[in-house]
Amino acid sequence: MIFTVAIDGPAAAGKGTISRAVAERFGFAHLDTGLLYRAVGARVAAGAAPEAAAQALSPDDLGNAELRTLAAGQAASRVAAIPEVRAALVQFQRRFARREGGAVLDGRDIGTVICPEAEVKLYVTASPEVRAHRRWLELGGDADVVLAEVRERDARDMNRADAPLRPAPDAVILDTSDMTIAAAVERAAALVAARLSQSS
Ligand code: DC
Repeated sequence: MIFTVAIDGPAAAGKGTISRAVAERFGFAHLDTGLLYRAVGARVAAGAAPEAAAQALSPDDLGNAELRTLAAGQAASRVAAIPEVRAALVQFQRRFARREGGAVLDGRDIGTVICPEAEVKLYVTASPEVRAHRRWLELGGDADVVLAEVRERDARDMNRADAPLRPAPDAVILDTSDMTIAAAVERAAALVAARLSQSS
């Protein structure tokens, strides 16, 4: 069975938690595509050229805990605006999306560019304040700096020319500002279950 769940949205909206839970519930593979850009950003910070860094990426690059920091997120957002970097990562993501057995991919452009044919498309969002508060609970630091970081990354990801962050026209919008993550997971799982029952 080929079945893709595309989950897009801004940083700290809950995409990662929802994606992992949905993948586990339905036995699908999961790819956090932000990690690809984070790993490229880290290689560039260490002196590599962006396009070459993207072409040379390997699964071993994705496990580093350093990739979770705010700085790594900013570095990722910067390299993600470079069309050659995005192009180098397309094929790997498309193959992952259409692998046998079902796949969940979370990112910014999964439903719009990587897999417009995805069986389920979700756009998970929340207000910048709520997202910044979640990031701050997770990573600590100065709350004002975290909010500024969220706004800066939103602006860059939404306004870049190549594959900007936006909902696909047929995506279901899930605003998690006033929702528990458990409720958001249930809503996402219900959409997947409904679509799966149509295709069987
Ligand atoms: O989801 P994340 O916070 O780990 O993503 C880090 C950055 O990578 C994000 O600010 C923009 C970029 N990104 C992207 O451009 N396209 C994706 N599919 C995933 C992430």
